[in-house]
Amino acid sequence: MTGPGFRCLEAAGEAIRVEIDGRSVEIPRGVSVLGALLLQADQGQRPDWFCAIGQCQRCQVRVNGHETTACQAYPAPGDRIETPKGWSG
Ligand code: FES
Repeated sequence: MTGPGFRCLEAAGEAIRVEIDGRSVEIPRGVSVLGALLLQADQGQRPDWFCAIGQCQRCQVRVNGHETTACQAYPAPGDRIETPKGWSG
């Protein structure tokens, strides 16, 4: 997991593999954890979010066991993302 940045433009087209609630998924490199969860919405993910700028704290998740806001965290390959109960299908 890394901090916010402009990674989408740096690595457009690349993908990384992460684990979301025990499921191995491929996501575009550079998207935030919130973005990754929204991309998985058709797989039953329903992330709770509002501001997307780290202020409301509604998007709390765990990445590799550490609490963070999904909208401000950027996953690295192999990261393990855990969402609160009820977000996963
Ligand atoms: S959506 Fe508000 S802190 Fe992430």
